[in-house]
Amino acid sequence: MTAPIVSFNHVGKTFDVDGFELEAIREFNLDIAEGEFVAIVGSSGCGKSTLLRLLIGLDTQFRGEIRVDGKAVEGIGGERGIVFQEHRLFPWLTVAQNIGLGLVNEPLSEAQRQQRITDFIELVGLTDFTRAYPHQLSGGMAQRVAIARGLVASPRILLLDEPFGALDALTRQQMQDELLAIRARAKITTVLVTHDVEEAIFLADRVVVMEPRPGRIKQVVDIALPHPRQRSSFDFHQLREELLHELISDDHYQPPLREQIRDLPLAFIAC
Ligand SMILES: Nc1ncnc2c1ncn2[C@@H]1O[C@H](COP(=O)(O)OP(=O)(O)OP(=O)(O)O)[C@@H](O)[C@H]1O
Ligand SMILES: [Mg+2]
Repeated sequence: MTAPIVSFNHVGKTFDVDGFELEAIREFNLDIAEGEFVAIVGSSGCGKSTLLRLLIGLDTQFRGEIRVDGKAVEGIGGERGIVFQEHRLFPWLTVAQNIGLGLVNEPLSEAQRQQRITDFIELVGLTDFTRAYPHQLSGGMAQRVAIARGLVASPRILLLDEPFGALDALTRQQMQDELLAIRARAKITTVLVTHDVEEAIFLADRVVVMEPRPGRIKQVVDIALPHPRQRSSFDFHQLREELLHELISDDHYQPPLREQIRDLPLAFIAC
């Protein structure tokens, strides 16, 4: 690998929760090459959003080191864009104004700014809603505004935290295709957190499977399938099975015993 654009070196993160130390991430090491698409999958609470917050520079209290372009991350920067797990739009701003927030640190003229906003509204298919407010949008539309806001400054690194979680299956697939199209045009290094193994295989060059808390890397799987990927292909299917197995096989997991199931009241079993 040439010099990585992102590198996590021995990263660890502990939160103080009500006087207790909660270890969220332990010994996370990962290099990401320029232009690479990395997906991170893992169970709820394994530290995925925390990792993205550290990389974007929203939280600078951690062990180890995170480097972007060889420089230690010390705070947020225009070369990194993020789409959060929940859309976080400002209710008192229109679609265009919310997207415009992604450009606050960009040295653009007013005309360039407006053009950029218009282009990205079109990209996410919301031209008719330019002046709408978030409460006038569906959940999926609001998420598309958040995606446009994350992309509008043309970041070199895009961080996506479950960006398509609230979308219906069809829109979700359209947005996945759109994301690949955007990446084909501009070589954006992308880190995607997702619960959806299929989404990870459809999009990513590598999938990082996390262990449950404290978050550690369990396995990194290369996805060598050529694009456009066919969800129905045998190879796709096989990778999905492999990743699901990695995710579900947990040494501490105790399957319920047959006797325990038999002892439960019928109503419980029915639900
Ligand atoms: N600000 C915080 N203060 C205290 N604990 C936190 C904070 N943020 C996250 N945590 C804890 O860190 C752990 C990892 O949280 P995180 O949000 O990164 O998980 P996640 O993998 O993104 O989960 P999900 O898939 O449910 O979004 C959790 O146990 C959570 O309770
Ligand atoms: Mg999360």
